[in-house]
Amino acid sequence: MNKTPSVGLYRRLLAMVKPYWTKLALAMMCLGMVGACTGAMAYLVKDVIDGVFVAKNIWLLKILPPAIVVLFLFKGLFSYGQSYLMTYVGERVVANIRNGLYRHIINLSTSYFDKNATGMLISRVTNDVAQIQGAVSGAVTGSLKEVSTVVCLLVVIFIRNWELAIWAVLVFPIAVIPLVKFGRRLRKISTRSQETMARIVTILHETISGNRIVKTFCMEEYEAGRFEKENEQFFLLEMKNARVRAISSPLMELLGGFGIAFIVGYGGYQVVKGTSTPGTFFSFLTALIMLYDPVRRLAGVNNTVQQGVAAAIRVFDVMDTPPEIQERPDPLTLTTVKSAVTFDRVVFGYNDKPVLKNLCLSVSIGEVLAVVGTSGGGKTSLVNLIPRLYDVWEGSVLIDGRDVRDFSLRSLRSQVAMVSQQTILFNDTVRNNIAYGCVGMAPEEVERAAEQAYAVDFIQALGQGFDTIIGEQGAMLSGGERQRLSIARAILKDAPILILDEATSSLDTESEFAVQKALENLMKGRTTFVIAHRLSTIRNADRIIVIDDGTIAEEGKHEDLLARSGLYRKLYDMQFKQEE
Ligand SMILES: Nc1ncnc2c1ncn2[C@@H]1O[C@H](COP(=O)(O)OP(=O)(O)OP(=O)(O)O)[C@@H](O)[C@H]1O
Ligand SMILES: [Mg+2]
Repeated sequence: MNKTPSVGLYRRLLAMVKPYWTKLALAMMCLGMVGACTGAMAYLVKDVIDGVFVAKNIWLLKILPPAIVVLFLFKGLFSYGQSYLMTYVGERVVANIRNGLYRHIINLSTSYFDKNATGMLISRVTNDVAQIQGAVSGAVTGSLKEVSTVVCLLVVIFIRNWELAIWAVLVFPIAVIPLVKFGRRLRKISTRSQETMARIVTILHETISGNRIVKTFCMEEYEAGRFEKENEQFFLLEMKNARVRAISSPLMELLGGFGIAFIVGYGGYQVVKGTSTPGTFFSFLTALIMLYDPVRRLAGVNNTVQQGVAAAIRVFDVMDTPPEIQERPDPLTLTTVKSAVTFDRVVFGYNDKPVLKNLCLSVSIGEVLAVVGTSGGGKTSLVNLIPRLYDVWEGSVLIDGRDVRDFSLRSLRSQVAMVSQQTILFNDTVRNNIAYGCVGMAPEEVERAAEQAYAVDFIQALGQGFDTIIGEQGAMLSGGERQRLSIARAILKDAPILILDEATSSLDTESEFAVQKALENLMKGRTTFVIAHRLSTIRNADRIIVIDDGTIAEEGKHEDLLARSGLYRKLYDMQFKQEE
């Protein structure tokens, strides 16, 4: 990852602001007016002193007080306008970034989520985007205001005393050098502190959602310690950050002190000598003192921008990761499955480790294929290739003779209903969990699916029936109940390809038998892949394959495989003995 922000990064941020240029232009106009009002105030100091105090001009005394009030009024109005408009643009841009980032993340491929911690991604969307927010709405917009004020005040000091003004302007760059240095340092610190924050969120996410395991293994102290360590690191980095920020301001103040001392000395000398009036002198000094605040704030702005840039680099890093699973440019639409699902010399694995090695398999429509084999043998990996949760390394997976990579992901995945090995449920009602992905499904349909999955009895026993919220990951349900909900979800999807990965493993024998019967009805006319460790559940499959060492070691019907006394026989005998 490139840590130094490039022109490209700024250009990218600017491109995001572009659609709101009218609002921005209006805001700039307001800014200009705010600056002009501020400049006018410093300018008027001369007339107050020379006209009122020295020349004792009564007319001026009458006109100046209302003029001052009007000036402040205008300044207030324009200041409100620019503040509202600038904040609007800033917040809008940041909200857009957040939306874009989430949309991108949710579209990333399974493999990305395998490798990146959930907490890190949460931290990107929350903390990092908030930091960009700080830079865009707080700082970039603020800096324009300060710049316009500085420009107007500079105009005043040049009008009042150009000779002195040149001195003041020459000193200015000396003050800027340390500020740039501080900004760079802050960016580095900020990167580290945001990385620490990402680790904190990861710990939070894992240990809060996994709190049952933390408890049963008595790891509360350990986790609290781990959390405290990261939090302490975060604290130290924030303090480092605060030190750099805190020193910018006194340093500026000291430089300002030198400037004022010089002006009082040299400018005072000119007044005493008679080459300048007290009014000119005080007007100049007022403008110079008024300059101090916006310049100091500009220093702060630079710091905030640097933090925002560091965050933007991290956010764009996620945004620039393309999803590994890509559709081809003109994908076909898979409307139905007519003949078969075929694995043609498939090689597949994770990272560099192959799992499936040159596997060939063809499953015809309506066939029920059972997949068995040792744990870690690659059964789940095999079925994950059908809806393209992963892509093959070599060979191909074909549906009706066409590579699955030819179809649009949406159409391909809509043809596959899957009950995955880990049941995944959302913190929502029973009904919405079953109807996930089937928006607008009639309530009767949902209830029928639940009935077929043997789930109605327990659903009705819940407080609000189908409208009961089941907690994160279905925490308020038993393992078997969760499984039945995901089976109901697959039943409702009514897709031609059905994948059941250990779908009934948590059920008792009686409900398994019933669900099995419902599933057998469901399998009619569909191409079904059943993965099961309990061999009793797959007896009736049309064909059984045994996966061993990444290839198909045996295949056939239950009786044939038993008679062959190979691997299947061995697995069967072991289970049979256990059950006895
Ligand atoms: N996302 C992943 N990243 C890296 N390796 C993985 C990933 N998923 C699985 N593996 C590895 O691939 C191999 C096959 O895993 P797979 O889940 O396909 O096995 P399985 O046959 O379904 O096993 P089980 O019966 O236990 O569910 C295992 O060795 C596993 O460690
Ligand atoms: Mg598995």
